[in-house]
Amino acid sequence: MFLSVWPEQGWALLQLLLVVLLSQAEEPVCRQRGDPESPQLFKDGDIILGGTFSFHSRWKDRQETYMHKPLPLECTSLNFREFQFAQSMLFAIEEINNSTDLLPGVSLGYKIYDTCGSIARSVRVALALTNGNEIVSAPSEEPCTKPAQVQAIMGETSSSPTTAIATVIGPFHIPMISHFATCACLSDKSKYPSFLRTIPSDYYQSRALAQLVKHFGWTWVGAIRANNDYGNNGMATFIEIAQQLDICLEYSVSFFRTDPSDKIQKMIEIIKASTSRVIVAFLSQMDMDVLIHELSHHNLTGYQWVGSEGWIFDSQIAAIDEHHILDGAIGLSIPKAHVSGLKAFMMNVKPLNSSNNKMFTEFWETLFSCKFNQSKSSAEIQRDCTGQEDLTGVQNSFTDMSLMPIFNNVYKGVYAVAHALHSMLSCNKTCTKDLQLDPITILQHIQNIHFKTKDGEEVYFNENGDPAAKYEIINWQPREKGIVDFVSVGLYDASLSADKQLNLQNTSLIWAQNSQQVPVSVCSEKCPPGTRKVLQKGKPVCCYDCIRCAEGEISNITDSVTCTRCPPEFWSNNRRDACIKKEAVFLSFEEIMGALLTTASLFGTCMTALVAYIFFRNRKTPIVRANNSELSFLLLFSLTLCFLCSLTFIGRPSEWSCMLRHTAFGITFVLCISCVLGKTMVVLMAFRATLPGSNVMKWFGPAQQRLSVLGVTLIQIIICILWLIISPPFPSMNFKEFKDKIILECALGSAVGFWAVLGYIGLLAVLCFICAFLARKLPDNFNEAKFITFSMLIFCAVWITFIPAYVSSPGKFSVAVEIFAILASSFGLLICIFIPKCYIILLRPEKNTKKNMMGKGSTKSF
Ligand SMILES: *[C@@H]1O[C@H](CO)[C@@H](O)[C@H](O)[C@H]1NC(C)=O
Ligand SMILES: *[C@@H]1O[C@H](CO)[C@@H](O)[C@H](O)[C@H]1NC(C)=O
Ligand SMILES: *[C@@H]1O[C@H](CO)[C@@H](O)[C@H](O)[C@H]1NC(C)=O
Ligand SMILES: *[C@@H]1O[C@H](CO)[C@@H](O)[C@H](O)[C@H]1NC(C)=O
Ligand SMILES: *[C@@H]1O[C@H](CO)[C@@H](O)[C@H](O)[C@H]1NC(C)=O
Ligand SMILES: *[C@@H]1O[C@H](CO)[C@@H](O)[C@H](O)[C@H]1NC(C)=O
Ligand SMILES: *[C@@H]1O[C@H](CO)[C@@H](O)[C@H](O)[C@H]1NC(C)=O
Ligand SMILES: *[C@@H]1O[C@H](CO)[C@@H](O)[C@H](O)[C@H]1NC(C)=O
Repeated sequence: MFLSVWPEQGWALLQLLLVVLLSQAEEPVCRQRGDPESPQLFKDGDIILGGTFSFHSRWKDRQETYMHKPLPLECTSLNFREFQFAQSMLFAIEEINNSTDLLPGVSLGYKIYDTCGSIARSVRVALALTNGNEIVSAPSEEPCTKPAQVQAIMGETSSSPTTAIATVIGPFHIPMISHFATCACLSDKSKYPSFLRTIPSDYYQSRALAQLVKHFGWTWVGAIRANNDYGNNGMATFIEIAQQLDICLEYSVSFFRTDPSDKIQKMIEIIKASTSRVIVAFLSQMDMDVLIHELSHHNLTGYQWVGSEGWIFDSQIAAIDEHHILDGAIGLSIPKAHVSGLKAFMMNVKPLNSSNNKMFTEFWETLFSCKFNQSKSSAEIQRDCTGQEDLTGVQNSFTDMSLMPIFNNVYKGVYAVAHALHSMLSCNKTCTKDLQLDPITILQHIQNIHFKTKDGEEVYFNENGDPAAKYEIINWQPREKGIVDFVSVGLYDASLSADKQLNLQNTSLIWAQNSQQVPVSVCSEKCPPGTRKVLQKGKPVCCYDCIRCAEGEISNITDSVTCTRCPPEFWSNNRRDACIKKEAVFLSFEEIMGALLTTASLFGTCMTALVAYIFFRNRKTPIVRANNSELSFLLLFSLTLCFLCSLTFIGRPSEWSCMLRHTAFGITFVLCISCVLGKTMVVLMAFRATLPGSNVMKWFGPAQQRLSVLGVTLIQIIICILWLIISPPFPSMNFKEFKDKIILECALGSAVGFWAVLGYIGLLAVLCFICAFLARKLPDNFNEAKFITFSMLIFCAVWITFIPAYVSSPGKFSVAVEIFAILASSFGLLICIFIPKCYIILLRPEKNTKKNMMGKGSTKSF
């Protein structure tokens, strides 16, 4: 009660002190405390091997009252499999005993105990094997220091009893070799230093099973495990690896064969309610036996079973599976093997009968379904046993040899011990018999053993005491009359690199419900390209919805987690699985608008040329002469350029066309307007010249006119050159306006440049308009100023409307608007200034006289 401060160390110290005191006093004595245990099978020899097998697979569950000493465990359900294992051990022992090569002159004996698969009994048995406490010589006081009774222990079959035994004997370094305990936990040499086995660890099996499940694309599986070390550890590793391989478990349930039926009922309900079609079962054959009855009772068919080696190649399970629930199952088994002579030896059961052997009687009775000594009162009368029954013709799990690979494991284990002893006793023709055998040395020898069996199989252990991990992949293929073939469809070899470990042969597999198609077991179907996975809330990662990628995003693999955005020049296609180049939008010659504008431009050019031709033909006539023919031709020339420059706006923008566009337009228009301005000035001047005392005309003669046109144009040229040098327009792509189209356009480079060019044109146009407006009322029979005013009105109107349209309309429409403005204003000038004159020249030649030109007050022509 005093001791929460003084924990166990203090207590241990006290004990140690006590021991020291006692040992000083006298040699300690050992007393038999519990009830003695006698082995079920026993034979004396120079060297004795221990064996632990669960000849019974269950025991009667008893409620302990803690009022008296618990009764010994009452074992039930005789298990013939374990008799087979024991027979294999005896066979190996006898073979070695007979052999003159291995341990010559040394006779081997054995002590074999039944553990019933119970952990408590296993511990008891382990102590019995080490102490040899079966002799009752009450009140005996034997000295404590004596060698172990057995040199090595073969067994157990299941992992849980094996861990119990290995824990007990570990500190004494008594070697234990199991033929079927696969729990990966047993590889831990700090806990089980003396444990070895001839079956691969579940460390590999769980990995192999996970890879197998992954191989067939089952990402949504249920799991059933035996609630013992085998199932729990194996399943834990499986789940860990499965998670790495993106496999999800819908449920993972455990049960044990002695569980009450309501617990099993709950498990059945879980399976019934599940949506996964694949069940991974980490069960021993005994657990599967119980489970299969329950499943048959509930007609739970249609599931694809994936099994551990505990049951997958057990023909006994196949035999009781009358509803074909497990047909098509796939799983791992240890590779097929054969031990010659074993079957004949095994069938000879008589030698198992040592005198007064209760278990042998039970075995015999169960084997032949008869009874010795039947009490007449019992309700069901069975056949009487004669003791002369014959095994030939008996069909049960004792005569079934499908577990030969495991028998081989037992056989190899015994041989490993024999080889170790052989080298320890430095046997040549004879062995040194009087050597004191030390368990730790035997253990070291066994760990380093490397030999070949008579059937050519290599036996050795790695540093964890495990053999090399090789499995066959077994498929249950139903044949006629309900017989199931265990077809080997592949191999798993853990010693190879990860991608080669699983090697499925090209044989046709048969799946659940006799199907040729690989069953599908997924929580959600794969997300096709063009979609991405979105996990469902609160569900495992294998359950997800597929969401279509947004516009401009794609996913080009199945089961993509994200959608990737396309680069700026690209856009997603309709299926969202590829980026396609965006459609480039620009005003081209091919499309209707481009073609119309081109036609209009060419038409304008032709018309200008025609007018020029008419003027040239009639250059001597007064009307042409009167109207300052030089400027007129220059104007016609610049108008031609204006019409033509609109063509530079059509077509895919290039570096050159961008630079040309605005500058050519700016310069030709300035040239054009400066000509008009010149003409207006001439009209104004001419009027002033007619006034008396004016010699304005001298100051504004043809030379000055030419110069002023040149000068005005030069300013625009300089503006354009500056623009081109400082920040020229360049082709650019506009991604903003449309999501799925690229607008190819010319960026201005410098907005100032652009507006300066336009502004200069505007300035000249306004100036021209004002002059023309002033001159419009001047008396002249053919007053050009009126037409110029009108044309400038059109010009200004067009350009004023152009500006808002240009600013607001995106892409190619702004280009079209600009071209339209150019064409409209050019046509305006051409029509207003030249058509009336052409009309007179061509249709009213009578008016084309000098008199008419100069005549004042005469009838106006328009
Ligand atoms: C081993 O051989 C000896 C004789 O050499 C024999 O007495 C003994 O019974 C044999 N043991 C077994 C297990 O066969
Ligand atoms: C051992 O030898 C005996 C007699 O020589 C023989 O009957 C028996 O079958 C042999 N056992 C084995 C396992 O070879
Ligand atoms: C199972 O199926 C059999 C016949 O196929 C039927 O008689 C039995 O009632 C079914 N059992 C259950 C639990 O559905
Ligand atoms: C087992 O051996 C005992 C004595 O050796 C004998 O009485 C008994 O009948 C034998 N049992 C069988 C089943 O042969
Ligand atoms: C058969 O029963 C008698 C008495 O009922 C008993 O003496 C005898 O030992 C029993 N034999 C066996 C083999 O159990
Ligand atoms: C066994 O004896 C033979 C000769 O009888 C000898 O050549 C051989 O080296 C010996 N082997 C061992 C391991 O002592
Ligand atoms: C497997 O068999 C199928 C047809 O039976 C064949 O088309 C395929 O090529 C084979 N694959 C391999 C790897 O041999
Ligand atoms: C998927 O797209 C990426 C880039 O978007 C590309 O590198 C890859 O090759 C594509 N994969 C397939 C299978 O098309």
